[in-house]
Amino acid sequence: MRFTIAIDGPAAAGKGTISRAVSAHYGFAHLDTGLLYRAVGAKMLEGVAPISAAQNLEPDDLEHPKLRAPEIAQAASKVAVISEVRSALVDFQRAFARRAGGAVLDGRDIGTVICPWAEAKLFVTASAEVRAKRRFVELAAKGLADSLDEVLADVKARDERDINRAESPLKPADDAILIDTSDLNIDEAVTKALTSIEALRAKA
Ligand code: DC
Repeated sequence: MRFTIAIDGPAAAGKGTISRAVSAHYGFAHLDTGLLYRAVGAKMLEGVAPISAAQNLEPDDLEHPKLRAPEIAQAASKVAVISEVRSALVDFQRAFARRAGGAVLDGRDIGTVICPWAEAKLFVTASAEVRAKRRFVELAAKGLADSLDEVLADVKARDERDINRAESPLKPADDAILIDTSDLNIDEAVTKALTSIEALRAKA
């Protein structure tokens, strides 16, 4: 059966963790769409023009561990404002979303632009301070962190760019269920997401 779950929200709100847990729970395929923009951002830093990088993206380009680095996150959010970059990535995301067996896609514009027809839409958010702290701990564990202040500044700069861009800005779909994870631990956030999705599946 086909069932698409769209999970959007700002950086480090818990989208990735929730998406992985939800896809494991249902046995659905999962696409972290941020990786597409990160892969294009990484190519731009190597000197490739972003539009051409997006048009020629290969599955192998999504595998590099360095895609998680903070400079790549910033580059991703910069290439993500380019309309031709976004449109080059649409078909791949939609084909993934429509695969038989169910799919979870997480990103910024999945419920609004990529899959407005998704059966379940979640918008996962948290305060910038909480998100920066989480991202700092994550990066520090990989030896990639600078300081908490720098991570907070990075998070805010990306929010600003993602929310205010003309093309597919970060915003909840009208029919998205909002989950604020500021005061939730991982288990609580996942439970909330699954409970919301179950209610929608019962109706589907
Ligand atoms: O989810 P992430 O942190 O890996 O995303 C990196 C950047 O990519 C993010 O700052 C904005 C962009 N992005 C986007 O514009 N649309 C998406 N669906 C996913 C990510």
